[in-house]
Amino acid sequence: MNGGRTEVVSLLNGIRLGLDEKQRLEAIEIGVCPPFVYLDQTEKLLAGSSLKIAAQDLSPELDGPFTGDISGSMLRDFSCTFVLVGHSERRLLHGENDLLVAAKAKMAQKVGLQPVVCIGESLEQKKKGETEDLISCQLQALRGLEGDKLAIAYEPIWAIGTGQSAPPGQVQDIHAQIRGQLPGLVTNADAVRIIYGGSLQPEGARDLFSMPDVDGGLVGGASLNAQDFLLICGAAV
Ligand code: PGA
Repeated sequence: MNGGRTEVVSLLNGIRLGLDEKQRLEAIEIGVCPPFVYLDQTEKLLAGSSLKIAAQDLSPELDGPFTGDISGSMLRDFSCTFVLVGHSERRLLHGENDLLVAAKAKMAQKVGLQPVVCIGESLEQKKKGETEDLISCQLQALRGLEGDKLAIAYEPIWAIGTGQSAPPGQVQDIHAQIRGQLPGLVTNADAVRIIYGGSLQPEGARDLFSMPDVDGGLVGGASLNAQDFLLICGAAV
């Protein structure tokens, strides 16, 4: 919930322009997640570009009287490819639990969107040594999803918005743990992309992306600056 229409236009134009100049970024898949009300504008601004569009949430319901909610098929109307599900801010501020997150992820796949399911522990849970169990629970809820249309974003809550990403070695350990649990839970487990989020910055991005089980990134604050966002994208090539 940053900025407004003017910022969306200048940010997207900045990203698009930068992408045109950096041909090597064609090798990777890049998307932007604007707030719902700017999806229409985003679709128009990105017409003809390789940038993908993602939404920040969706309803677990297909359609009907759900005032204030946005359905997956509505998101498809605006060329969305991806949708975030279970971001920690949704879990913390809106009480979304694993069951609801799973229902949303399933609905996303049902309507042809690829869910990016966010998981991760709080500082308190980390201090108590609960990370492994928590992540296992969050993953169990994803049973039955199609792995080739799924990304999992590991986002330690203690790193989000702090300016300090988690150490690459720690991220690799958790990503390897996630990867190890996917067979038996989802189909095509090998195809699941496991991406990292939590204060990704241009400086530390390359080290994180060089970890064998880090397949990409979910960029928050740094994506509000086109240059920083593109530098982070460049670190993935
Ligand atoms: P951050 O946000 O990069 O600002 O930490 C990440 C997120 O909210 O997904």
